Amino acid sequence: MLKSRHILGISHLSPDEISFILDTAQSMKEIMDRPIKKVPPLRGKTIVNLFFEPSTRTKLSFELAAKRLSADTVGIAASTSSVVKGETLIDTARNIEAMRPDIIVMRHSMSGAPHLIANHVESAVINAGDGTNEHPSQALLDLMTVREHFGTLNGLNVTIIGDIAHSRVAHSDIMAFSMMGARVTVCGPATMMPPDPDALGARVCLDLNKAVKDAHVVMALRIQKERQGSLPLFPSEREYARSFGLSRAVTSELRKDAIIMHPGPINRGVEMSPEVADSINSVILEQVTNGVAVRMALFTLLLTDQQKLP
Ligand code: CP
Repeated sequence: MLKSRHILGISHLSPDEISFILDTAQSMKEIMDRPIKKVPPLRGKTIVNLFFEPSTRTKLSFELAAKRLSADTVGIAASTSSVVKGETLIDTARNIEAMRPDIIVMRHSMSGAPHLIANHVESAVINAGDGTNEHPSQALLDLMTVREHFGTLNGLNVTIIGDIAHSRVAHSDIMAFSMMGARVTVCGPATMMPPDPDALGARVCLDLNKAVKDAHVVMALRIQKERQGSLPLFPSEREYARSFGLSRAVTSELRKDAIIMHPGPINRGVEMSPEVADSINSVILEQVTNGVAVRMALFTLLLTDQQKLP
């Protein structure tokens, strides 16, 4: 069982718990390959999806994960909720809680929003991405994808490229890969590095070719214009692509077994060229598939007795 009743961040999990989640996700993936992709363990359970920011992959995969485990799901977006009438986040959470859901999945532009509601509800809360803070289920699906390819996470070199300061994916991934024994390097414009890079627990290398040398895993991040404020952090997208974009020229120098990752959505031609995104080394769509399996595992571990897994 997991020690916490919520999934709020990678820092709340131990390496053993992460391994347990990944092992459970691997067995969930087998269910996804069956002709009938539905099992009963969460029958009678209710999951509320609160997505207060746009999402394709995370929202759909949480919904699909719940449906494949036979849970009932309902969702509401900020634009159609009473938040637009001035209701506070805590009042919204308390009202949802009054309808007795088992899990609330929340994405919010404000860092700490899921942690805030977790203090006010009895339901389990899963952080589906909060501001620039964390995106724990993304990191877990990234770990799963890498572990499937290399059989281990320990001793791997992982390079993450892009807007490290503003990326919740980077924050969760740096913690998760480091906890599981990988060496993480971050790369990008100096303006996109956090003020105290040492606090990251990752090596900082501002030269792309040096940063990806010997990498088993090369992950490009989306440029997050919506979080950068009014002043651009780089001169132009063309300039960014030239210095930090993954092109054929860059990836041709990688290890032969290196894999290319991206959490999505991709800005093709900026973070990576279309040829690299669709190349044989790209595992971007495997990440999406594994996202459903990881979220099935999280629901199962939060809501069922492990001895009764399907
Ligand atoms: N990776 C990710 O969070 O994608 P979405 O924003 O589409 O959910």
